Amino acid sequence: MKALVAMRDWVDERFPMTETWNLHLAKYYAPKNFNFWYYFGSLALMMFVIQIVTGIFLTMNYKPDASLAFASVEYIMRDVDWGWLIRYLHSTGASFFFIVVYLHMFRGLMYGSYKKPRELLWVIGMFIYLALMAEAFMGYLLPWGQMSFWGAQVIISLFGAIPWVGETLALWIRGDFVIADATLNRFFAFHVILVPFILAALVFVHIIALHAVGSNNPDGIEIKKNKDANGIPVDGIPFHPYYSVKDIVGVVFFLMIFSAVVFFLPEMGGWFLEKDNFIPADPLKTPEHIVPLWYFTPFYAILRAVPDKFLGVVAMGGAIVVLFLLPWLDRSKVKSIRYKGLIFKTAVSIFVVSFIMLGWLGTQPATPELTQLARIFSVLYFAFFLLMPIYSVMDKTKPEPDRVTFDAH
Ligand code: HEM
Repeated sequence: MKALVAMRDWVDERFPMTETWNLHLAKYYAPKNFNFWYYFGSLALMMFVIQIVTGIFLTMNYKPDASLAFASVEYIMRDVDWGWLIRYLHSTGASFFFIVVYLHMFRGLMYGSYKKPRELLWVIGMFIYLALMAEAFMGYLLPWGQMSFWGAQVIISLFGAIPWVGETLALWIRGDFVIADATLNRFFAFHVILVPFILAALVFVHIIALHAVGSNNPDGIEIKKNKDANGIPVDGIPFHPYYSVKDIVGVVFFLMIFSAVVFFLPEMGGWFLEKDNFIPADPLKTPEHIVPLWYFTPFYAILRAVPDKFLGVVAMGGAIVVLFLLPWLDRSKVKSIRYKGLIFKTAVSIFVVSFIMLGWLGTQPATPELTQLARIFSVLYFAFFLLMPIYSVMDKTKPEPDRVTFDAH
C-alpha cells in the first residue's frame, strides 16, 4: 500500500493524475436526480469502445479490395475463430450505437439540455452525430454486397444534383465514374482511420464542454445556483462512486439486451443487415428496392418526398441543420418538459410520431400514396422546429421548483 501511495505521489509530481481524477470524477458534482434517460451518454461511450475494438479485429482479416472484400467478410464469418461474433458485434453494434445516440438526443430534447449554457455542448453533439452518420455510411460499403454498392451509388449520386459543380464533385468523391475499387479503398481509409479519430476528438471535447457547464437534469434547473458554504451544489453528488456505480447497472442491463440480439437475431430480420447485402455487389444488376439502414431512413423519406432531386437534397440536409439550431429555436422560459405546457408536449408527441413514421416510410417502396404520407410527415417534422420560436413562447409553462425533485427509492 505504502509503495502504491509513493508511486501515486511520484506521478502526481509530474502529471496531474489525482487532480484530474478529483476534478472529473470524485469531486465532480452531478445533479442527484438523474433518471433512466441519463444512462445513454455512458452507453454511447461504451458502444464507441466496442466498435473500435471489434473493428480492429475485423481489420485483421478484411481485405479492402473490390475483388476480395465480399469473400473476406464471408471468410471472417465462417473460418476465422470467433469471426462471426466479432462481425456481428460490429454490425449489430452499429445499430445499437444509433439507438443509444437517438435516445441520448431525445433526452436532450425532453429536458431542454441544449438550452443556455449548453448550446455548444449540443452543437458538438450534433457534429458527433454527423461524423457517426459518415462513419456508418462508409462502413456499409466495405462488405461489398449489393446494398453496399447500390446504396453508396444512390447517396453519392445525390451530390450530382448540386448545380454546376455536382457531377465533378460526385466523380471526385467516388474516384471513378461508378462506385469502384478506388471508392472502396478511400472509404476504408476514412472508416478505419480518419472518422474514428474525428469521433474520438469530438467525444473528448463533448465531455470537456459538459464538465465546464455541468450536467442538466430532469427538472432542468441549474444546481450550481444553490451551493453550500463549501461551494458544493446542495443538490449535487460526487460522480464517483454514485454515478459510476449507477452507470454500471445500465451497462449490465444494456449488455444483456445487446447480447440477446447479437446471439439470436443479429440481422434483426433485415433491419440491421439487409438481405440483399448477402449477395456480392453487381454493377450490372440494380436491386429492386434500394433502401438505407433504419437509422438513415427518416432523412431518406424526406429526400424522396420532394419531387425535385436538388430540392430533395436541400430538404434532407435542412432536416439535419434544423437540429443544430434547436438551442435558438426553443424560446421557452423553462428547460424541462416537466414544466412545459400542453402545446410543447403535443408538439413533441407529433414530432416523435412523424420521425418514426418517416423512418418506416423510408424503408418502403415509394408508391404515390406513401409518398403523399411522407410529404405530410416531412411538413410536420419541419413545422416542429420552424414554429418552435412561436409556440414555445405561447406555451403556458409551470413554475420551476427551487430544488430538484428526488425520491430516494
Ligand atoms: C458518440 C456519441 C456520444 C457520446 C459518447 C456522448 C457522451 C456523453 C456523455 C458521457 C454525457 C454525460 C452523461 C449523460 O448526460 O448521459 C453526455 C451528455 C450530453 N450529450 Fe452526449 N454523447 C454523444 C452524442 C451526443 C449527441 C449526438 C448529442 C446531441 C446532438 C449529444 C448531446 C448531449 C447533451 C446536450 C448532453 C448534456 C445532457 C444533460 O446534461 O442533460 N451527445 N454525452
